[in-house]
Amino acid sequence: MKITYLGHSCFTVAVGGKHLLFDPFVSGNPLATNVRIEDIRCDYVLLTHAHSDHIADVETVMKVNPEAMIISIWEIYAYYSAKGYKAHPMNKGGWYTFDFGRVKMVDAVHSSSFPDGAYGGEAVGFVLDTAEGALYVAGDTALTTDMQLIPKICPPLKAAILPIGSNFTMDYCDAVLASDFLECNRIIGCHFDTFGFIRIDHEKAKAAFAEKGKHLHLPAIGETIEI
Ligand code: NI
Ligand code: MN
Repeated sequence: MKITYLGHSCFTVAVGGKHLLFDPFVSGNPLATNVRIEDIRCDYVLLTHAHSDHIADVETVMKVNPEAMIISIWEIYAYYSAKGYKAHPMNKGGWYTFDFGRVKMVDAVHSSSFPDGAYGGEAVGFVLDTAEGALYVAGDTALTTDMQLIPKICPPLKAAILPIGSNFTMDYCDAVLASDFLECNRIIGCHFDTFGFIRIDHEKAKAAFAEKGKHLHLPAIGETIEI
């Protein structure tokens, strides 16, 4: 499984011969000037919630990838399918098997509305269960004890992508505890540095994980991690 960081909470995951894109937000990210949203090729677009820093480039991506399918909570599905885009609705707790593996939609503690004020349902995270291993993508969330359920109901995680920038989500100290709850010591950080509110000290964040024998990866924008 190859994970490429495109800034903020936007990643592509290459798995099972398919390309999954999470939370496309590139054109509005002042740090992601080396990424061209029009060049992203994907088969699926997974959306954790409807805030603009997670969906701003959805329609651009769907126009250059007309066969791609959005995977999201019901309300986001309804919003994009009404505009004519291909989409698959899910809700929290469910698994669904796609051609790259199974996806479980899990809870995230955060809000969700579209930039135009439309209701976005609730914020979610995803667990991917594939032939190349399992990955948890938390989306924007606070630390929550519900994360303890994930290792009980999902296969062991190879890695987890957690928000660590504080202000809008948990911070890296909470993410260390989240890593305990998830029983996963390989964490990839996201939702940091994009705006002043969420700027972090990289060395302190990495040290907080290293002290507990865990690894925090803070990818550079454009960097690919193989897990
Ligand atoms: Ni958000
Ligand atoms: Mn966000």
